[in-house]
Amino acid sequence: MDLEQIKKSAINAINNASTAQDLESVNVKYLGRKGVLTGVLHSLKDLSIEDRRKIGSKANALKQKLEELINKKSNSFRELSNKISFGFDVTKPGLKIFSGHLHPLSKIDAEVRKIFLSMNFSVVDGPEIENEYYNFDALNIPANHPARDMWDTFWLKSKNNPFRQLADSGQKSKLLLRTHTSPVQIRYMEKHNPPFQIIVPGRVFRYEATDMSHEFNFYQVEGLMVGSDVSLANFKFVVEEFCRKLFGSKVQFRFRPGYFPFVEPGLEVDIKLEGGGWLEVMGAGMVQRNVFDAVRYNPDEVQGFAFGMGLDRLAMIKYKIPDIRLFYNGDLRFIRQF
Ligand code: PHE
Repeated sequence: MDLEQIKKSAINAINNASTAQDLESVNVKYLGRKGVLTGVLHSLKDLSIEDRRKIGSKANALKQKLEELINKKSNSFRELSNKISFGFDVTKPGLKIFSGHLHPLSKIDAEVRKIFLSMNFSVVDGPEIENEYYNFDALNIPANHPARDMWDTFWLKSKNNPFRQLADSGQKSKLLLRTHTSPVQIRYMEKHNPPFQIIVPGRVFRYEATDMSHEFNFYQVEGLMVGSDVSLANFKFVVEEFCRKLFGSKVQFRFRPGYFPFVEPGLEVDIKLEGGGWLEVMGAGMVQRNVFDAVRYNPDEVQGFAFGMGLDRLAMIKYKIPDIRLFYNGDLRFIRQF
C-alpha cells in the first residue's frame, strides 16, 4: 500500500471512530506492533539509501501526524467521559418538567368570585386579626353568651401587640384571629349604605383539634345583601343559582332551620349531587335587628340576608377530596392532581 493511501484510510478511520474502543483499534491497525504503517517503517531497511531517505521521512511525518490526531480525539473522549462521571450525561433522556398551576383552593376561590361577580356582588376584604367587638359583639354575640362556644377562638395577647392598630378602629377590645369572615360585613356596613350585595372570601381560624373535616385554619366565603325589600326568597334564588353554576344543574336543595345569633330566622342549606347523599354546605338567614342597630341602620327600613360557607368544603365536594388536611400539608403528589 502506498503512503498516500495509508494516510487517507487512517484519517478516515480516526474521524469515524465514535468510541474510545474504536479509536484504539485504529491505533493498533496502523501504529501497533504489526500495524500497517509500522510495517512500512520496518521495510525501509530493504530499500536503497535514496528511497529510504525519501519514503522514510514521509512515513515518519505520517506517523507523527496520526499519533497527533489519535491523541487529540482520545482526549476529547476522556473529557466527555469525565463529564459523564460527574453526573452530566448529554445522552441521557431529560427529566420531565412540571409546570406550576393553581392550588385547588385558589381554583375554587376564583370560581366562586366569578359566579358572584356575574350576579352583581362585589368582593370585600378585611383583617385576619380582629377584635372581639367585630368578631362577636356587633354580631349579636355578647361576652358570656353561650353562643360564643360555637366558635373556638384563638385569643391573642392584646397588650403591646403590634397588630393592635390593624384591628382596632378605635374599639378597645380583646384581639383574636377571626373565627369567621362575618366581622368584615360589620366593617363594611359601618362605611356604606344599602342597597348593596357583597361577598367576603377569606382565611379564618378555629381553636380545635384537626381531623378529616376540621382544620384550625381554613377558608370561608360569606355573603350579605341588604336593601329595603330583600327577602328570603331572594336568598333562595341567589344560593340556588350559585350552586347550579358551581356544581351543575342537577343539584338538589334542602333548607333546614338552624341557629346563628346574627340571623333570624336562621337556616342551614344542604345539597345533593347526582348519586351522592345530602351534604350540609352553608349557614344563612335574615340579618338580626341587633346587627343593624350595631351599624346604625334602621331595622324598620332595611332588611337583608347573610350566608356563610367553607371554601374547603366546596372544593372537597367538587373535586371529591376526602380529607381537609390534604389542602395544607404541601404534598405535591396531591397538588399535582389538579
Ligand atoms: N358566620 C357563620 C360561621 O362562620 C356562618 C354564617 C354566616 C351563618 C351568615 C349564617 C349567616 O359559622
